[in-house]
Amino acid sequence: MHEKPSNSNKKQGVTRRTFLGTTLVTGAALVARGSDAIFGAEPSASSNIATNPTWKLGGDLTVNRLGFGAMRVTGEGIWGWPPDRGNALKVLRRAVELGVNLIDTADAYGPETSELLIAEALYPYPKGLVIATKGGLTRPGPGEWVPDGSPQHLKQAVDGSLKRLRLERIDVYQLHRIDPKVPIEESLGAIKEMKDAGKIRHVGLSNVEPEEIERARKIVPIVSVQNRYNIEDRKSENALAYCEKNALGFLPWFPIGGTRGLKPENALNAAAKAHGVSVFQVALAWLLERSPVILPIPGTSSVAHLEENVAATKLKLAPEEWKAINALAG
Ligand SMILES: NC(=O)c1ccc[n+]([C@@H]2O[C@H](COP(=O)([O-])OP(=O)(O)OC[C@H]3O[C@@H](n4cnc5c(N)ncnc54)[C@H](OP(=O)(O)O)[C@@H]3O)[C@@H](O)[C@H]2O)c1
Repeated sequence: MHEKPSNSNKKQGVTRRTFLGTTLVTGAALVARGSDAIFGAEPSASSNIATNPTWKLGGDLTVNRLGFGAMRVTGEGIWGWPPDRGNALKVLRRAVELGVNLIDTADAYGPETSELLIAEALYPYPKGLVIATKGGLTRPGPGEWVPDGSPQHLKQAVDGSLKRLRLERIDVYQLHRIDPKVPIEESLGAIKEMKDAGKIRHVGLSNVEPEEIERARKIVPIVSVQNRYNIEDRKSENALAYCEKNALGFLPWFPIGGTRGLKPENALNAAAKAHGVSVFQVALAWLLERSPVILPIPGTSSVAHLEENVAATKLKLAPEEWKAINALAG
């Protein structure tokens, strides 16, 4: 299964929080130095790394490249309502205040609660806010994710998301994952019908290989791909290369390692110490510089972590630091 949101693997080695103990104080430094609107930082002096602060999804939706993943504003096991609903609303509103204008969600998160919270926090939506939702995964229970790519389910899913998000048209609708029981042509055929009916502006894919993207593009234009990718997990390099070549946005999920976090004691840590920031900020800066098509969507249930993550857009790594971090293959 592609979604692995449980906390169980925190036991494997140093957890995010214990590791953060060594970096949290300095990690706030970027936030303290930044203003509220932290996008549009000076481009880096180095020429071989991505410096574009924005990306045009589908050629017409300009988004700041660091987005927000709204999976973590739900309850334990990505199930139900969060324990502190007021806090979840604050996180979503703060993201927009900080200049985030790409929010990733899915009908499966909660299920439904992530989309409902987004609407509760942000509707009527500010101009330029892009909500990218997904369908095609069902949730029989906490921690369970079962694909359903049947046309009937997907059409109902689009209508459900439109209602919960209080939208007439979804800016980006992503097929959450390909259902092995349903040919991709059938699933995307249904999504294309919804697009043709004016209910979807652009279509994205998730958890796909380049050959699948190729097949999908024969059915309907594709603007983005969302796969697991971070400094320690680069199994999706081929998909990223495909996106670069074809100017598709690439949204890495688990950009900072998910609940497992990232391994300490490496070049990430050295750069974090050198800049007085957290290792997660370095990991996000590496992603932003890795490719102009990358749109990281870190998820959090914490305003402080959100502020720290967005502040990573100001961090510029020296070319030798970037190279050392880049050598940390997963
Ligand atoms: N397409 C797919 O199949 C798929 C699968 C998984 C996720 N996604 C999407 O991708 C987004 C990102 O993935 P993710 O949220 O699972 O993983 P992630 O962004 O790599 O990591 C999230 C985890 O890191 C913690 N965290 C976030 N910022 C932190 C910081 N500055 N310092 C310390 N801890 C921090 C969060 O805990 P706190 O809440 O305590 O901050 C949470 O446990 C999701 O929200 C979702 O939108 C898509």
